[in-house]
Amino acid sequence: MDRWIEVDLAAIAHNVKIIKAQAPKSQLMAVVKADAYGHGLIEVSKAARQAGAEWLGTALFEEALTLRESGDSKKILTWLGDQAADFAEAIEKDIDLGISTFSHLEKAAVAATKLNKKANLHLKIDTGLNRNGVSLADLPKLLEAISQTTSVNLAGIMSHFAFPDDPSSEVNHQQIIKFTEIIKSFDQPIFSHMANSMATLDLPQSHFDLVRPGISVYGLHPSGNLEKAKALTLKPALSLKAKIVNLKAVAAEQGVSYNHTYRTKEQTNLAVIPLGYSDGIDRRAANAAAVAIGGKIYKISGRICMEQFVVDVGADFQDQAATVTLFGDSSTGVPSVEDWAQAVGTINYEIISRLATRIKRVYLNQ
Ligand SMILES: Cc1ncc(COP(=O)(O)O)c(C=O)c1O
Repeated sequence: MDRWIEVDLAAIAHNVKIIKAQAPKSQLMAVVKADAYGHGLIEVSKAARQAGAEWLGTALFEEALTLRESGDSKKILTWLGDQAADFAEAIEKDIDLGISTFSHLEKAAVAATKLNKKANLHLKIDTGLNRNGVSLADLPKLLEAISQTTSVNLAGIMSHFAFPDDPSSEVNHQQIIKFTEIIKSFDQPIFSHMANSMATLDLPQSHFDLVRPGISVYGLHPSGNLEKAKALTLKPALSLKAKIVNLKAVAAEQGVSYNHTYRTKEQTNLAVIPLGYSDGIDRRAANAAAVAIGGKIYKISGRICMEQFVVDVGADFQDQAATVTLFGDSSTGVPSVEDWAQAVGTINYEIISRLATRIKRVYLNQ
């Protein structure tokens, strides 16, 4: 194996416990969509459950079904399905459904009636993101329709923040006010949730009955702030590693990798690392992001190719069997996910969730 992802499941469990302590009165849903942000759906979910996650949350219905197939029998919510067949399968498997439209309601109702079951629905309400969720204008009609539909049960209401990384955002505060008003308009208590990681960590007034952290479960801070993550003792769970697959001497003044965007300054050694853009390594990492080899940091030299890139490791470098860490827990002296996000102009979420599933995941502390 010459490239792999290490996932420290003890770090996942630790993070879940740390986050839970931030919202002690609420239940916790570990958001494990996108293959648990690239970490591996099943293994992360098991670790999160063991650490006390009452809920798991997925975007795609098929992710929720995969969890059921893995033997998970506790509460799961999924919120981005649109196909009638998926609604039927999810209801059959006792998966709660986040819905936003009359069409979703109808699909859930038809499927539940056929199954002779009640579908558990969480109505997603758009309090300001202007993406998914029922608009405030349509909310009363959709609530009325839900209450008239005997095959469904309104298990909860949910909303999502427009500024998911910024606790000082006025828009977020207005969203909390709107959501609170909606909760108060119910005759009976209604199970309510809106907090992502940012809000779980910094906006206690948004905790309600359940918090839905994602990125922080993986040990990263929603704003990419390493200091804040450290203060909370969040522990990055994922490290991307590879073996050098070719180490060779080249002369000075040589162009390296496609289109020669890097040139050697002097006689040196070039290490070839077997990871490329088809593995989720951003092409903008060329001549920008860095890797750690044997306790030293080296910048990537030249273009990222489909399955490989090159690092100028210097004339003295001899360790043909060295392990290269692209990113991981920076407290161990390797680049952080945030370093990479900064180098390529994106957010930590994208760096981890784009890692190809074909890279083998190796689980530590299982
Ligand atoms: C509905 C919903 N809730 C919670 C989350 C978790 O967000 P975060 O990773 O910022 O904690 C997401 C992620 O995008 C989401 O879509």
